[in-house]
Order: sequence, then structure tokens, then C-alpha cells
Amino acid sequence: MPTFNLKINNETHAVEADMDTPLLWVLRDQINLVGTKYGCGIGQCGACTVHVDGVATRSCLLQISQAEGLNITTIEGLSENGNHPVQEAWKDIDVPQCGYCQSGQIMTASAFLKRNPSPSSSEIRNAMHGNICRCASYNSIEKAVKVASE
Ligand code: FES
Repeated sequence: MPTFNLKINNETHAVEADMDTPLLWVLRDQINLVGTKYGCGIGQCGACTVHVDGVATRSCLLQISQAEGLNITTIEGLSENGNHPVQEAWKDIDVPQCGYCQSGQIMTASAFLKRNPSPSSSEIRNAMHGNICRCASYNSIEKAVKVASE
């Protein structure tokens, strides 16, 4: 099996895997970064979102052979102590219900706010609309993204 050198949360990890192994499984099963969640495995739900060179990316769709040399950030690497402004807003608004989709939501929101630091409500809804929440916490998610932008 080939070895790939991945830059994840500012550390290099040498990982052996088949070329088409999704990054999601490498993160969870080989590097034990289990904050990134498996929802659908086909790019539809957003639970597996990480940042790749700062862009919100579905790790279930990114093959490990495409990830070498890129800067990958997972929820564990987003901030030192869970104190990224988006994470703080999530706590202030008390967003999570079951919590399963939240790391993907936060990764999407944080990448979006970097691109658009002062979004309108409709821009927030558009940016977040591909991240599914089975508890339907969409109003709280929108509110938290707004708070994080202030
Ligand atoms: Fe990747 Fe659903 S698990 S988008």
C-alpha cells in the first residue's frame, strides 16, 4: 500500500492507505480525529466537512491521493481550546441538540465567515444550506453564525 504524507492541523502524518481511500476514513480510523463525522458518505450531508487550504470540503469525497501536500484542518485543529468565535457563538446560542452534525456545521460556518465576515441572513442561509441537521436546528445555526460575525 502506498504511503501519503498529510498535513493535518499543522502536523505531518505518514499514512498507508489505498489511493482512493476517502480522507474521512483516514482521519477517523488512522489518525483518531473522530470529531469529523460520517453521515452519508456521498457528499450530501456535510457532517464530514473539514478545511482544505481554508476551503470547506467534504472529506468523504476527497481521496487521500488528492490530499497530499494540502493543508487540512479538522474541528480539532480549528482553535486551541474550542474558542474559535464560531465555537463560542455555538455555545452562547446553545445550538446543538443531538450534536452529530455540529462539527461539520462549524467547519462550514468558519470557512464561510473568513470569506464573508459580515454576511446577511440570506447569505448565511445559502452558505449553510448544504449542511443537514436532523434535529432541524437551522434557526439556531443561523443565529450563531450571525453572532460569530459580529
Ligand atoms: Fe460526507 Fe455526508 S458524510 S457529506
